[in-house]
Amino acid sequence: MRICLIGTGRMGRRHILAAKNVGFEIAGIYDPSPDAITLALDEQNLPRSIVFSSAEQMLTTVKPDAIVVSSTAPSHGEYVCLAADVGVKYILCEKPMAVSIAECDRMMEACKRAGAILAINHQMRFLEQYTAVKELADSAAFGGLRSMTVCASNFGLSMNGSHYFEAFRFLTGEEILSVSFWADAAVLPNPRGPEYTDRSGQLRAVTPSGVRLYGELSADQGHGIQVIYGCRYGQILVDELSGFMRIMHRQEQYRDLPTTRYGMPAVEVIRQIEPVDVVGPTESLWKAMLKGGSIPDGQCGRHAVATLVAANLSGEQDGRAVQIDAGLPVARVFPWA
Ligand SMILES: NC(=O)c1ccc[n+]([C@@H]2O[C@H](COP(=O)([O-])OP(=O)(O)OC[C@H]3O[C@@H](n4cnc5c(N)ncnc54)[C@H](O)[C@@H]3O)[C@@H](O)[C@H]2O)c1
Repeated sequence: MRICLIGTGRMGRRHILAAKNVGFEIAGIYDPSPDAITLALDEQNLPRSIVFSSAEQMLTTVKPDAIVVSSTAPSHGEYVCLAADVGVKYILCEKPMAVSIAECDRMMEACKRAGAILAINHQMRFLEQYTAVKELADSAAFGGLRSMTVCASNFGLSMNGSHYFEAFRFLTGEEILSVSFWADAAVLPNPRGPEYTDRSGQLRAVTPSGVRLYGELSADQGHGIQVIYGCRYGQILVDELSGFMRIMHRQEQYRDLPTTRYGMPAVEVIRQIEPVDVVGPTESLWKAMLKGGSIPDGQCGRHAVATLVAANLSGEQDGRAVQIDAGLPVARVFPWA
């Protein structure tokens, strides 16, 4: 199958690698930056003949089976709609899906109209750091997930926060109901360019059944990402960057004691899992999409964007909880990358 890529920056180059590993023929690339093109060709040993001077020219000339949209967020909507309109069957778009909720809706409508399959590259369901946790948390020994606490560095609400909204949705099987965000006063320079802004701060989100997501992504923290999952009978700690995992739960004979008895003898296991990677899980996503399996679809991407919109609104109102519902400003555009 033949694939084209739009946006060949840092992530785009990883997409080329993932697409090659899946067995795609790289049939066209487009990026307005000559430097980004040259770097991608050199790094991936590709011929200059696959470079096009516009996305439209590339798609109408090559007529690929599949496309990756890995430009920055403001152009995701335009390219996904274009690809669907010209008949591309498989569309993988980077996160955040778009810069407004209305744009997400337009993308989903265009794909539905054309019969295209759209996935958003929130690869969480293909990462052991979440699949292993889901299996443990749902087991009798742990008794179900109650909270997820992400103690991170200044990794950006839209840049990485959007991944955690999808991770939380995947782990709980529920969409987030409401979110509170206490934004740091300072808005720090964005590594992808001065035209983009992201926020740091502290976050709390809740599902309809009352499961909580907490996020510490403040601008004065600068190292690591550790996540603690609180379950009815135990806790799971995952150091996402190293793959260290500490699993701890009540011994079976203590399970039915009240939660006020939190210091009983425990079963404790230390495990090493796969640390964070983007190429492997992106390959898994492609394989799932081509086989008709479970993928993070447009609705997953839209929910992450709607949660981002609500969190930004909350940040403008001193952390007031904002519902993720039809009352959100769908047309408001945010300067995410
Ligand atoms: N899923 C993940 O794990 C993951 C990881 C990193 C980045 N991302 C996402 O991937 C996207 C790209 O991130 P990056 O780190 O590669 O950024 P980057 O700045 O390294 O690259 C972005 C590229 O897009 C190009 N571009 C900008 N506007 C364009 C347009 N209108 N048309 C075509 N190309 C355009 C730029 O020239 C640049 O080469 C972002 O949306 C980012 O959030 C996802």
